[in-house]
Amino acid sequence: MSEIEEPGEQPPRKDRRPRDPDLWIHGSIKKHRHADALHFRPDNDFFRLADPIVRSQRTLLGYDRLYVFWQAVRNVANVPGAVAEVGSYRGGSAYFIASAFARRTGEEVPMHVFDTFEGHPQQAITEHDEFQTTGQFSATTYDDVREYLSAFRRLEVHKGDVSASLGDLGEAVYRLVHIDTDLYQPTIVCLRYFGSRMSPGGVIVLDDYSSTKCPGVPMATFEYLEERRDFQIWDMRSGQLMLVKGCPPGSGA
Ligand SMILES: C[S@@+](CC[C@H](N)C(=O)[O-])C[C@H]1O[C@@H](n2cnc3c(N)ncnc32)[C@H](O)[C@@H]1O
Repeated sequence: MSEIEEPGEQPPRKDRRPRDPDLWIHGSIKKHRHADALHFRPDNDFFRLADPIVRSQRTLLGYDRLYVFWQAVRNVANVPGAVAEVGSYRGGSAYFIASAFARRTGEEVPMHVFDTFEGHPQQAITEHDEFQTTGQFSATTYDDVREYLSAFRRLEVHKGDVSASLGDLGEAVYRLVHIDTDLYQPTIVCLRYFGSRMSPGGVIVLDDYSSTKCPGVPMATFEYLEERRDFQIWDMRSGQLMLVKGCPPGSGA
């Protein structure tokens, strides 16, 4: 019997499968780019929607992260509730999510989009956000993003610190929430606010969960997951963490 390889040991030279998880997803996105794709792979509909958004530089998200939303939208199509994005910057990720709902479900969903449109607010930066600076991501305006998203009749754009804007929302349940602020404080505030308002089966996607530049994001996430045990936790290997409501880890749901 051959010896069992200890985790962490280098694979034999002839095994060409990459051990770096980042290569798994990027490789497969590239490979299936123009193929007549299987239903679980990025298909031409996905690229038709993603291409102009990526090319226009309206989003900092790459194809791999947009594809997570493409899948999430399909999976929450029959889950009741609204949609929210916190940290929309130039509006590209919000545009992708809103369009994906229209294309995949045949109708628009109520959607709330939040940003200061002046970059990171000073009061939201804490000692956990050592690589982030006040005013970072200020190359955007409310008017421009409002205009860019104007085709979506049920989408509302909220300007200002999300910690204040959340107080203006009426009570609602949510099916998909994208939190992409790079910072500890708005991340934990949004997790607490939206986490208790998610419909069963609803999904929260946290961006930059594994970025070394955003240590406040995993910190807020771990803190929140200590408080709440009713989410399944999926590391998408794209830099995003996905939390699925109502399906505790290990429940087999
Ligand atoms: C990385 S960018 C978002 C990228 C965007 N989702 C995309 O697709 O390119 C982070 C955004 O979070 C916003 N932000 C940070 N803290 C915030 C807060 N407390 N309230 C509202 N927006 C905030 C910043 O203004 C910035 O536009």
